[in-house]
Amino acid sequence: MQTDLRGRDLISEQEWTREEIDTLLDVAWDLKRKRALGEPHAYLRDKVLAMLFFFTSTRTRASFEAGMAQMGGHAQFIDSETTQISHGDTAKEIGQILGRYCDGIAIRQCDWNFGNKYIREVAENSRVPVLNMQCDVYHPFQILADLMTIQEKFGRDLRGKTINVSWAYAASYQKPISVPQSLVLLMSRYGMNVRLTHPPEYRLMPDIVEQAKENTKKSGGSFEISHDFDSGFKDADILYPKSWGCWMTTEDKEESGKIGKKYTDWITDERRMAMAKEHAVYMHCLPADRNIEVTDGVIDGPQSVVYDEAENRLHVQKAAMALTMR
Ligand code: CP
Repeated sequence: MQTDLRGRDLISEQEWTREEIDTLLDVAWDLKRKRALGEPHAYLRDKVLAMLFFFTSTRTRASFEAGMAQMGGHAQFIDSETTQISHGDTAKEIGQILGRYCDGIAIRQCDWNFGNKYIREVAENSRVPVLNMQCDVYHPFQILADLMTIQEKFGRDLRGKTINVSWAYAASYQKPISVPQSLVLLMSRYGMNVRLTHPPEYRLMPDIVEQAKENTKKSGGSFEISHDFDSGFKDADILYPKSWGCWMTTEDKEESGKIGKKYTDWITDERRMAMAKEHAVYMHCLPADRNIEVTDGVIDGPQSVVYDEAENRLHVQKAAMALTMR
């Protein structure tokens, strides 16, 4: 167990060792149990987390804020649009200033080719840990919650389990690629068979795919890329079909909309779920485009674990804050 995490940033889960991630999950389960039993766990009394959002959120905001309150601290909601950030406060100034007021800085900045750089610049200038609430490259807390959920359903040893990380069609907006990228990076470290399924235009960043392949070599799993939606479901244990933007192909909204329209049949439905193993679970980080990306029958059905995933955001984030902000 690696417990020397005080002051550490969590910007990408790839930058934490497997031992450190396992420690975080152990603490998350302990905190989940404590909350279920109503046991107090005020590990961050009088501590303050700044939560800086450049992009909308339901789960991330609510779970970080609830988590800080449950641990005896306070979370400040800072909206980039309604603060002087919109008039030019720089990343350096944010790191310096919020780092002096607060005990941790959490940031969601998903702008393509900018968000991750921004978060790292804040971290370079901050005296307190910086937590990535989602950027253009990674969504570490979502994927830690996903790993916790998978281990709850399948046990701690995930070697040999097949996860299908698949693109799905959505009409709402060009979503970041951070969820599939963090998924392939983390699941490949646990000896899983990682299946990445997407139309050619929806490829991920090449260096992320290379890192996932390297992870797989070390962990003893496998990694494959397919462009066939249906075959991604075949005999999988874990199904994670969700939409993301074709950012690696085009940043143009109109063009990306046209590309997406070629694949409107990439919807998760009961027929496709039946191709997976009988015990397979359906996962989604939410929000989902209902009856476009996934049918109501699947997302509300017996194989869906989406509410467990959403709940586990709270526990992994509390664990990360308790370990890094004390
Ligand atoms: N899954 C997730 O990050 O949800 P929000 O965008 O609502 O925070």
